[in-house]
Amino acid sequence: MVAPAPDAVIVTERLTKRYDGADFLAVDQLDLRVGAGEIFGLLGPNGAGKTTTAGMLTTRVVPSEGHAWVAGVDVVAHPARAKQFLGVVSQSNTLDRQLTTWENLYFHGRLFGMRARDSRLRADELLERFQLAKWGGASVYALSGGMAQRLMVARSIFHRPAVLFLDEPTAGLDPQSRLALWQILRELNAEGQTILLTTHYMEEAEHLCARVAIMDHGRILALDSPENLKRSTGIDTIVTLKVDGDLDALAKNLLDQVRGATHVRRIDQGLELHVAGGDHLLARVIAAAEASGASVQDLAVTEPSLETVFINLTGKELRD
Ligand SMILES: Nc1ncnc2c1ncn2[C@@H]1O[C@H](COP(=O)(O)OP(=O)(O)OP(=O)(O)O)[C@@H](O)[C@H]1O
Ligand SMILES: [Mg+2]
Repeated sequence: MVAPAPDAVIVTERLTKRYDGADFLAVDQLDLRVGAGEIFGLLGPNGAGKTTTAGMLTTRVVPSEGHAWVAGVDVVAHPARAKQFLGVVSQSNTLDRQLTTWENLYFHGRLFGMRARDSRLRADELLERFQLAKWGGASVYALSGGMAQRLMVARSIFHRPAVLFLDEPTAGLDPQSRLALWQILRELNAEGQTILLTTHYMEEAEHLCARVAIMDHGRILALDSPENLKRSTGIDTIVTLKVDGDLDALAKNLLDQVRGATHVRRIDQGLELHVAGGDHLLARVIAAAEASGASVQDLAVTEPSLETVFINLTGKELRD
């Protein structure tokens, strides 16, 4: 195969995975190009094929068909060479529990062919930078979830990879640790690090990613900046209603009586209404509620999110 243009750091062509014995494609003919310096997000629900895609790009999963290059290296033909250009933070904790925090970094460098002295200096530098210096001699058992995740990120960039892959980097972290990790990823990206991350948190994709591919059933359904994806729905307002009463009757009234209403769906204790370009919106919503005999407990108006985009594309919610 002809190697792709050098400005694209990740390129896939019809990249496909069917696991042994499966009667469906986990990843289905994926064509992707990610440029140098991007933070790119793969967003999708459980089972969409995000980890499988990242796995093929990082040489852990062998594609069934198609091609993939990272930093111009064909990952199937030259996996060992490709690994030199990859940093990986996987979905589970892969720290070596026999080693201390510092040793987890140091030996990673040695494994990647760094000299002892360089590896020592880099380990010290990264522990400092990721605010783990105090924990250098500690067992990784002593680290909190947020600290362990920071250590995995430090380890992943140790050998200065061309692309950093993170699979669900903030799953299971508390909100504070999540924000701290977002900050780290933004800083790395500001220094030029190309990042591909997978997530099923729409906020994560919105806050971090310059471009997002929305995936489901192994396919990309839409790919653009978060702003453009949201604009593409044509929806400009989301009204959330917490109500007591007949929700079916209310849903029907809202669709009939609120100008611009495109979609209504059940949420916890109420309904969510999507509206494109309606006028006198709140007055019409209240009137529709009154007409259906429902009593409104709470009403909120927000802008569309990537969740709205996903619902629009699939009719499903992103979260379980
Ligand atoms: N090793 C495997 N063997 C067989 N099937 C697999 C394997 N790994 C994943 N699958 C299946 O492939 C599909 C895609 O899985 P994948 O893990 O890539 O999804 P994901 O988007 O990462 O989901 P999650 O959000 O749950 O991490 C799923 O239906 C999954 O059950
Ligand atoms: Mg996954």
